[in-house]
Parts: sequence; C-alpha cells; structure tokens
Amino acid sequence: MDKQYLLAPGPTPIPPRVLLAMAEPIIHHRAPVYEKILQEVREGLKYLFQTKNEVLIFASSGTGAMEGAVTNTLCAGDKALVVEGGKFGERWANICKAYGVKPHVLSGEWGQSIDPARIAQSLKEDPSIKAVFTQATETSTGVLYPIKEISEIVSHYPGTIMVVDAISHLGAVELPMDEWKLDIVVAGSQKAFMLPPGLAFAALSDKAWGFVAKSTLPKFYFDFKKELKNLQQNQSAYTPAVSLVMGLSESLKKIQADGLVKVFSRHALLAKATREAMLALGLKLYAPQAYSNAVTAVMAPPGVDGQKVVKILRDKHNLTIAGGQDQAKGKIFRIAHMGYVDKFDVIMAVAAVEMTLKELGYSLEMGKGVHAAMQVLLE
Ligand SMILES: Cc1ncc(COP(=O)(O)O)c(C=O)c1O
Repeated sequence: MDKQYLLAPGPTPIPPRVLLAMAEPIIHHRAPVYEKILQEVREGLKYLFQTKNEVLIFASSGTGAMEGAVTNTLCAGDKALVVEGGKFGERWANICKAYGVKPHVLSGEWGQSIDPARIAQSLKEDPSIKAVFTQATETSTGVLYPIKEISEIVSHYPGTIMVVDAISHLGAVELPMDEWKLDIVVAGSQKAFMLPPGLAFAALSDKAWGFVAKSTLPKFYFDFKKELKNLQQNQSAYTPAVSLVMGLSESLKKIQADGLVKVFSRHALLAKATREAMLALGLKLYAPQAYSNAVTAVMAPPGVDGQKVVKILRDKHNLTIAGGQDQAKGKIFRIAHMGYVDKFDVIMAVAAVEMTLKELGYSLEMGKGVHAAMQVLLE
C-alpha cells in the first residue's frame, strides 16, 4: 500500500505506542489485570473531561452516547432546545424525535456561531424546556459555539440541563466541564483521543444524574445508571472493547504527560497555521469568525468544486481530508488538525492543497500558503 496521510476530522492518525498497546494479546475483562487498567483510565478520563464525576464508556460510535444522553435524562413529550447550525445539530433533533421528545430548533446560518441571547430568550419564553442540546465544535462547518456563555444561561434553570456534543472537540479545544457547569459532555474515540473509532463517552453532572433518576424513556445497552454502577467497580455491564480500552489507557497517559494546556496550545497553533496558509492563498474561511481549533473549513475558490479538491487529494496524493456535507457540499473542504497531528502534517496538507488547486486551474503562487504556515509555526 502506498503511504497514506490522514487529516480528516475523524478518524484521525494514531500514535505508534497506542497501536502497539492495542496489538497486545487480549485479556479477560473480568480479570484483575483489566480492572487495573480501567481504574487508571477512569482517572485519565476525569482529567481530560475536567470533571470530578465518572466518565461512562460505551462500545459504539459517538452517536450512541448522544442517544444515551437523550434517553437517560428525558421523558416522552418533554421539550428540548436544539442549536442547529450544521449537520450534527440536526442529529440531536433527529434523536429527540425518534424518542418522542419535542425539539424546538434554533437554526443558525452554516458557518456562523449562535448568539447566546437566543437561548436566553427561548428559555425565558418557555422555562419548561428540559434540555439544551448543542455541539461544542460543529464539525460540518468548523464553527466553535460559545459553550461557556450558553451554559451560564442554562445553569440558572434548575429544570434544564446543558448537553454538549464534544465529539470533535474534547482533547483539542478547552472545555472544562465542571467549571463551565456543563451537565452532559459526549465524546468519541476517533477524534482528538488518538484512537480508532469504536468508543463513545458520556460524563454527567450531579444535576444531570438527578434527571436520570426521573427519566422514563426506554433504554437498554445505553443505560447510564447500570453502566455507572459497573464502572465504579472497574467493570462494565457488557463485554467492553478490551483492545480499544488498552489503547485508550496509552493515549490518556500521553495527554496527561503533555498536560491539557500544552495539548490545547498545540491545536491552536496548528489551526492558526492552517488558517493563515489558506488566507495567504487567497481563499476564504467558511467560519471566518467563530472558528474551532479542531478543524478548518475552507471555501473552495469560485469555479472550483470542493469535492474535486478532496477527490484529487485522496486519489492522486493519498491525502485524506473531508469535503462539505449537505448544503456545503462542493462549496468547502475541511482540513482537520486534531489529535496526533504536528506541524509537518499541516505543512504537508497545505502543500498538497496548493498542488491540487493548481491542477484544478486556480491561479496561485505555489509555496505562498506553506510559507505563511511556516511563519506561524515558528512563533
Ligand atoms: C460533532 C460531531 N457529532 C457527532 C458525530 C457523530 O459521531 P459518530 O460518527 O462517532 O457516531 C461526529 C462525527 O463526525 C461529530 O463530529
């Protein structure tokens, strides 16, 4: 196989020592050796989520934990407020509808953030809303939402919880769960966790656990109460993804050794280098103001199909980034810089984008983007 380069917003590259940990012979999940690993993992997850509470682990993609966040806290007929400015905001509304929860959708323009005043207004008009669902980073647009501000508003409503899908955010961009009074934070392994797909995570505040006690929606595998009880004994209700948990143990050790401050500033630097490179090439950012440091969404230049950029990069240069989804399809391409990514990955991606755009007839001065990125990376 030819050498491949992965700069998609999930799955993301995996450090060799994590790969090696997952290649270890399988161990039995009811044995003390596994329980010891899980005990360390529990502490590592609390560090990463910046919470004193337990972080539940499920063998599923991130959506499983999103579904669990709905089914474990709400009842049929409950009202929810959903921030929807991209593909993943839609997912919250769809999960709610599947379980008979009534979503009131606050739609925003794709590529733009949301004004927290809109959430304040909605809650003022209808304080019976039980949950506010949002993304932290909306991966489909590259937008960063004002989570701290929204959460501050929600925290004044004892009957409302703040639920954050941080699947493409956690471990890349700051999100101190307890300090910002977030009630549920959901994440997935295939992003800044530096792991393959297959694990989903959910952390709940004491307030959210109070909702769990009253929730009557159906649930079975994603039963948070049952999973918490098991986790507290270094166990899981069902057979866990043992090898992924062994990899998780390694990746959490790396994150803890580096420290969150360093991890976030590395992401910030890589993101800035990517943005500056794209601007130097005369391109526009899809999220020009409220950009996330996890993924950069770039407008394809006039006359160039964003999907073609992605296709040529993949088929000709073996470099995978992501295209636009739904209304952004063909209009944008997205370069991720989350997890096990460093400065030379960014330089490589910028160089490959330059070559591809040139091939597609876009007039640019080759090397100008790379130069801009290098300048930022030398900061
Ligand atoms: C913000 C966000 N939410 C939800 C998901 C869905 O996660 P999964 O595909 O792991 O179920 C993704 C995946 O890309 C995401 O980026």
